[in-house]
Amino acid sequence: MAAPPLMLDAETRAGLWRQLVSAIETYATKLETSRVTPPLDPGEVRAMLSRFDFSTPVEASEALGFLVEGLWKFQTHTPHPRYYGLFNPAPTTMGIAGDALVAAFNPQLAAWSHSPLAIEIEQHLLRAFGARFGYDPAHTDGTFASGGMEANHTAALTALVETFPEFSCRGLRALAAQPVLYVSAEAHHSLLKAARLCGLGTDAVHEIPVAPNLRMNPEALASRIAQDRAQGFAPFLVAATAGSTSAGAIDPLPAIADVAAREKLWLHVDAAWGGAAALVPELRPLLDGIERADSITFDAHKWLSVPMGAGIYLTRHPDILDRTFRTAVTYMPREAAELDVVNPFQHSIQWSRRAIGLKVFLSLAVAGWEGYAAAIRHMVAMGALLREQLEASGWQVLNETPLPLCCFVDVRHAEGRSAAYLHAVAMKVVGSGNAWISTTRLANSVPVLRACITNYRTSPDDIAALIGALEDARRQLR
Ligand SMILES: Cc1ncc(COP(=O)(O)O)c(C=O)c1O
Repeated sequence: MAAPPLMLDAETRAGLWRQLVSAIETYATKLETSRVTPPLDPGEVRAMLSRFDFSTPVEASEALGFLVEGLWKFQTHTPHPRYYGLFNPAPTTMGIAGDALVAAFNPQLAAWSHSPLAIEIEQHLLRAFGARFGYDPAHTDGTFASGGMEANHTAALTALVETFPEFSCRGLRALAAQPVLYVSAEAHHSLLKAARLCGLGTDAVHEIPVAPNLRMNPEALASRIAQDRAQGFAPFLVAATAGSTSAGAIDPLPAIADVAAREKLWLHVDAAWGGAAALVPELRPLLDGIERADSITFDAHKWLSVPMGAGIYLTRHPDILDRTFRTAVTYMPREAAELDVVNPFQHSIQWSRRAIGLKVFLSLAVAGWEGYAAAIRHMVAMGALLREQLEASGWQVLNETPLPLCCFVDVRHAEGRSAAYLHAVAMKVVGSGNAWISTTRLANSVPVLRACITNYRTSPDDIAALIGALEDARRQLR
């Protein structure tokens, strides 16, 4: 009997797997010799795609070859050691294997009975990461998520349910006052989106000024809360950041935790990137106070370098996810009803869901805590080297952070602090194909160039190449 067209015959499959493995291995070993950035021409991409009208099937090897070639050509290569970008990782080898296995076995993570191993692996990991942050494993709960956005959204929802129990059934209209939450001016904008998704609207997000070191000012937080209460608002959540996106700033967690405790507000810490410092003993003190957070966002697809998407939401309130997400439903599997287990669909935003934790499990099992600590240490060392070499070549680094992220301006150019000049420098570097960097504004105000070490393979030669690309850009703009 001929194999159905959706399952290719054994011989074709064998050839396809060989082609696939060879493409993955070539990408892993040859990437650093290629450009980092693609041409940005939508017409060219669409022209390449136009041959597919799907009326005439193509051979499996041809289709796969088309994608491999296309991805090489039309992608900003975030796994490249000279991608100095937005926390996007070079994926771990074990993470790639884990994701491939998940695609093939396709475990369904809605109900425990369908994926006992995958779900228990995720629970095991949540407790292990919670312990690193100082949570008691016996009282740690959480969920894997698509990324930091979903984890922060989960934080806002759980804080609403905890503070206003009537919110679950009757929604915001049941509340007597407008709930408001607090973030620093450096916080990630996913919290604004989360406010929208919760029905609060972005005006409910009250931005607290930062000190010159870009950390939230706890006194300003306390006085804004008092002012808001006096005006009839209902404060419910403080979302601190441990490793801000623009500048790697870590809010003063102990002082913020004191304010949150005094004011009886849910404390969330967005440690999407910086949370990995918890894996390195000498960096762990940077996160002191995080153990007092009611919930934490921590993305494994950032500094733990697993393939996207792998967000994590952790909490020390074991029943809050159930109270936020449980619904009565008749058609879902019930085999696990008598067991003391988690049914993820009752416990998180998603319903049917991919097994996110397996790539994290394989990566951590093979590297161990020590392997991760060594990789993170290396990236921190590369960050220090970058800072040193920037300063030595006439760039001034404006942000203070122990994390490997430099925000800088050009002190050798008359326009070296202007947004237009800095943007032009970034575009020259990106256009050269030698590296990817970007621009941002510190505390949404001061323009800077931004370069972050996100890749465990970035070496001193790569740092030298970035310095060279910056020098070329500066020369061309003279
Ligand atoms: C501090 C912080 N929080 C949240 C997010 C959102 O995470 P994701 O892109 O995984 O949804 C990011 C993304 O860079 C981030 O830097």
